[in-house]
Amino acid sequence: MNLASIDIALSHGVSLRSIRTSDAAPLAEAYLRNSEHLAPYEPLRTNDFHSEAGQQTEIAALIAGRDAETTLPLVLADGSRIIGRITLSGIVRGAFQSGNLGYWIDQRYAGRGLMTATVNEVSRLAATMLELHRIQAGTLVDNVASQTVLTRCGFVEFGLAPAYLRIAGRWQDHRLFQKILEA
Ligand SMILES: CC(C)(COP(=O)(O)OP(=O)(O)OC[C@H]1O[C@@H](n2cnc3c(N)ncnc32)[C@H](O)[C@@H]1OP(=O)(O)O)[C@@H](O)C(=O)NCCC(=O)NCCS
Repeated sequence: MNLASIDIALSHGVSLRSIRTSDAAPLAEAYLRNSEHLAPYEPLRTNDFHSEAGQQTEIAALIAGRDAETTLPLVLADGSRIIGRITLSGIVRGAFQSGNLGYWIDQRYAGRGLMTATVNEVSRLAATMLELHRIQAGTLVDNVASQTVLTRCGFVEFGLAPAYLRIAGRWQDHRLFQKILEA
C-alpha cells in the first residue's frame, strides 16, 4: 500500500481513503454544507475555498505534500459524497519523527464513533507505513468532542499553547495532545 492508494472500510458504509484530484467538487460541496458547523474550528475561509476551483488548488498542494512525504491527506467518503477529512501534516524526520493531525466530519455523520475509528486507523498508518515516533493534535480549549476522540485513541495531553493558531479570525489558545507510537 502506498500513500496514494489507502482505502479502508469503516462502519456506516463510510470509507477512509487517499484524497484524489477528482474530489474537488464533492469536497467543495461538503465545505459548503458544513460551513457553519466548521467555522468556529477553522481559519477564516475566502469564498474561493468553497468552490471546485478553490478545492482543486487545495488538493494540488496536499498531493504535492504527499509526494514529498510531508503530508498524508485522507478523506472520509460515503459513496460519491465526501463527509470528512483527516490530514497528518508537517511530517518531520530526523530526531523528531513526528506529524500533526487535523480533522473534521460532516455534522450529519457526527456522534457515531466515526472520527474515533478514523484517528485510530491514521495512528496505525503513521506507525506502520510512515514509521513515525509520535503524532500530535491541538484542540481549542473548549472543544470537548475532539478532546474525547483524542483521549479515547490513546493521546495524552502535554500542554497548553497560548495564542497557538489563528482560528475563526482570532489567535486562540490550544490544548496539545500527543500519542507515542512506539515503545
Ligand atoms: C470533533 C469531531 C471530529 C468528532 O467527530 P465524531 O465522529 O463526532 O467523533 P466520535 O463520534 O468518534 O466521538 C465524539 C465524542 O464526543 C462526544 N461529544 C460530542 N460533542 C460533545 C460536546 N459538545 N461535549 C461533550 N462531548 C461531546 C460524543 O458524545 C462522542 O462521545 P461518545 O461516543 O462517548 O458519546 C466533530 O465533532 C467535528 O468535526 N467537529 C468540528 C471540527 C473539529 O472540531 N475538528 C477538530 C479540531 S481539533
